[in-house]
This record gives sequence, structure tokens and C-alpha cells, in this order.
Amino acid sequence: MSSTTQITPKAPIPLSRKPSGRADPGAKTACIRTFGCQMNVHDSDRIRRMIQDAGYAEVQRYEDADLVILNTCYVRENAVDRVKGHLGELNRLRREGRVKRVALTGCIGAAEESDALRRTYDIDLVLGTHNTYELAEFVGLPTMQETYTPELPGTSGEHNAFVTIMTGCNYQCSYCIVPTVRGRMICRPMESVVREVENLVAAGTGYVTLLGQTVDAWRHEGKRFCDLLEAVSESAPRVWFTTSHPSNMEDRTLRAIGEKDTIVKRLHLPVQSGSDRMLKVMHRGYKAERYRRKIEVFRDAVPDGTLSTDIIVGHPGETEEDHEQTLRLVEDCAFDSAYIFKFSPRRGTEAAGLPATVPDAVVQRRFLAVLRQVERNAFARNQRKVGGVEEIYIRHGSTEDGKAIGETWSGHAVHVGTDIAPGNYVKAKIESAGPHVLYAGVPSGRL
Ligand code: 5AD
Ligand code: SF4
Repeated sequence: MSSTTQITPKAPIPLSRKPSGRADPGAKTACIRTFGCQMNVHDSDRIRRMIQDAGYAEVQRYEDADLVILNTCYVRENAVDRVKGHLGELNRLRREGRVKRVALTGCIGAAEESDALRRTYDIDLVLGTHNTYELAEFVGLPTMQETYTPELPGTSGEHNAFVTIMTGCNYQCSYCIVPTVRGRMICRPMESVVREVENLVAAGTGYVTLLGQTVDAWRHEGKRFCDLLEAVSESAPRVWFTTSHPSNMEDRTLRAIGEKDTIVKRLHLPVQSGSDRMLKVMHRGYKAERYRRKIEVFRDAVPDGTLSTDIIVGHPGETEEDHEQTLRLVEDCAFDSAYIFKFSPRRGTEAAGLPATVPDAVVQRRFLAVLRQVERNAFARNQRKVGGVEEIYIRHGSTEDGKAIGETWSGHAVHVGTDIAPGNYVKAKIESAGPHVLYAGVPSGRL
């Protein structure tokens, strides 16, 4: 099984700098394509900084670029298929003399599969996730001394910024390639994180997202994630964090989300399955009941909050009874949104070698059942927001019908009828709601 589907787009992802459409004639040009998660988007922001420092102008089309950088994802097979499609097109453009150099960075770069890609396609440089800084030398900058990604240049001066607080992951979930391609957990010192946040805020950032594969596992010199979150929430006007692991999520963090005005009241807590048997096979380290209890604490501490999760359907060995238990958990937790993935075998992971694979047709049926359940809950919960007036942070961009994309303090995504610039707050009435997004009218005021 290689297909995967997300049911909701991840939170709108801002680019730290808008790529210009066309470069000055004569300037060196580069095009960056990002695949995958927010961590990769953030790494691409840093890559963007490097190429700009090296005198490259950023362009959006391959045919305008001297250098193309593909920052890749390896977490599911369809992500690899997409990259292969892009590499094929780049080979053709190279033969026509339109693209000169191609670099492949990110998670595929850190996986064995990159050797095979190198043999099939013209790639000048392959970098994993731990040595992205070597790109500096490739583009003609002095070599950087940093030994791990968190100390690479961050992004500054934008309204929305990502701040990496940890890299890698110490778990060994049966299906997951992340520990192989991103390595073990490295936590960034608290002072370093807080300093970066303070600098960002001083330069105009209004929204900071703390990033890591398991942010709530962060610990450093006796401090734990909640201490870091509280410190950051003192410095930044708006804070969110992702992704968390249920085994690390402390009740006091859940309470802090409810208590601190500057923390967005939205929790993303991947559960993966509602069946204890599957959670064990997956090596998740918790039972469904413990997950449910965490959610009760969250709902109690943050009554107006939103909750999202990740669910995998069709992991080897998943029975009808396991699937039913997932449906039950979805019902009980009433998620506001969920990313539902069909199991995708990754070479080198335990699950790829497990027997009892689930037939495609069964996976598809279970996928749709979970999807419908999530959407039913999400739609009903969103309907409750209709008629209320919300304070909305304008995140970025505009939809096809010219509306801005914003976020309420409860973490709902909203389309708002305004052309006000990102980084501002407006007040507007929620007029309607779908399963994934709220729709607000023209703002009654700018805050
Ligand atoms: N197949 C399907 N989904 C996967 N995920 C990670 N690895 C796989 C895989 N091999 C999903 C998990 C994780 C999210 C980021 O991607 O749900 O939480
Ligand atoms: Fe992968 Fe599990 Fe680590 Fe998440 S916690 S990154 S799913 S190994």
C-alpha cells in the first residue's frame, strides 16, 4: 500500500520570505521545493537564507533556476514518488541546458534510497538532515561550524516563525522512518530558544511555533517542556507547538495551554490507533485509556480548545476489531480535525517486514469510515462557533476568493473577508462552518 491521504491541510504554512517571480538578469538563481512536514518547511527557510546570503535570487520555476534544491520527505512512499517525478523533469531540463545544478536535501537524503536516486538521476549534491549546513559550502559561503541543525540560522522578521527546540526522536514506532533519517533526540538549550524568540519578536514576529518530532519530550538541564513553553509564552505574543507524544504530555502542560493567554488553545496529539493491541504492535508506549484520560484533562483545562490527531489505518495485523476500537476512540475524543494515513511500508522499519498485511480494499474502506467519523464530529463542533464573534490572527495569504486565512485563539482556521496584512488581529463574526474551516464575515474592527 503506498497511497496516503490527509483529510485536512496542515495549519497554513507561511514561507519566511516570498520568492520573487523573476530574478534580475545576470543574477544567479535558485529554486527550492519543499516536501513534507513543518520541520522541512522550516529547514527550507534556513536554506533560503543561505542561498540569499550566497547571492542567489529565488525563483519559482525550475526553468528559471541555475540551482534547484529539493528538500524532501521520506515518511511515506507517495512522498518519494513525487520527488522522483520532479527529478525526472529536472533531468529533462538539464539536457536542454536550462537547469545547471540539482541538490537533494532532507529525509530522503539521509536514507539509503538516495544512492539509488543518485544512480538514476543527475544529482550534484545529496545531504541528509544533519548536514544541511554543508550546503553553505556548495553555494559558495564559508563553511559553517554548526554540528546540528538547531543552531543553523533561523528565520527573522516575519510575522509567523518556526523555532526548532529539538531534533530527532528517541521512540522506535514500528512504522516510522524518522528515527533512522533524523537520528536520536537532541534538545536545544533553553537560553538559546528564548534568545531566538526574543530576537524574532523584536524584529516583528507575532506568532512563534515551537517545532520538533516530539516537542513535549524536550528536556534540558533539569527543565522540562512545560518550563520552556511557559518561558516562551512570556516573551512571544502568540505561541503554538507541534508535534507532541501522548507518553510525554504532562497534565501541567495541558493546564498551561488553558491558563496562558498567549498560547493558542490547540493541541495536536497523534494517537495512531484506538486499539491497545495495535498500540503495542506499533510500540507507542501507551494504552488507549491513557490517551482518553489526557484528552479529558485537556477538555477540562481548555474548554474552548481544539484537538487534532494522526491516525494510521491498515498497519499490518490490524483486524476489524482493532478498527472498530479506533472508531470508538474517535467518537469519544471528538477530534476537531485529524490527519488519517494509510499505512505505507518504509524499508528498514519493523512494520515493513511484518506479516498479515491488510488488503488495499479493506484499507480504503476503513480509511473512509474513520474519515467520516472525524468529519461528522468536526462539523458538529465547528457549527457551535457559528454566530459568535472571534478575535482572529491573520496568518497569511488569501484564498482563491480573496479572503485572508486566519486563526482564532481556540485554534480554528478561519477564512475572513479582509485584505488586512498578515500579522494583524481582526474581530469578525463567524457566519458559517464546514468540517475543516470556519467562515467569517467582514471584520467589525481591527485590533
Ligand atoms: N505509514 C503511514 N503513516 C505514517 N506516519 C508515519 N509513518 C507512516 C507510515 N509508514 C504518519 C503518522 C505520523 C505522521 C506524521 O505520519 O501518523 O504521526
Ligand atoms: Fe516516528 Fe514515533 Fe518518533 Fe513520531 S514518535 S517521529 S511516529 S518514531
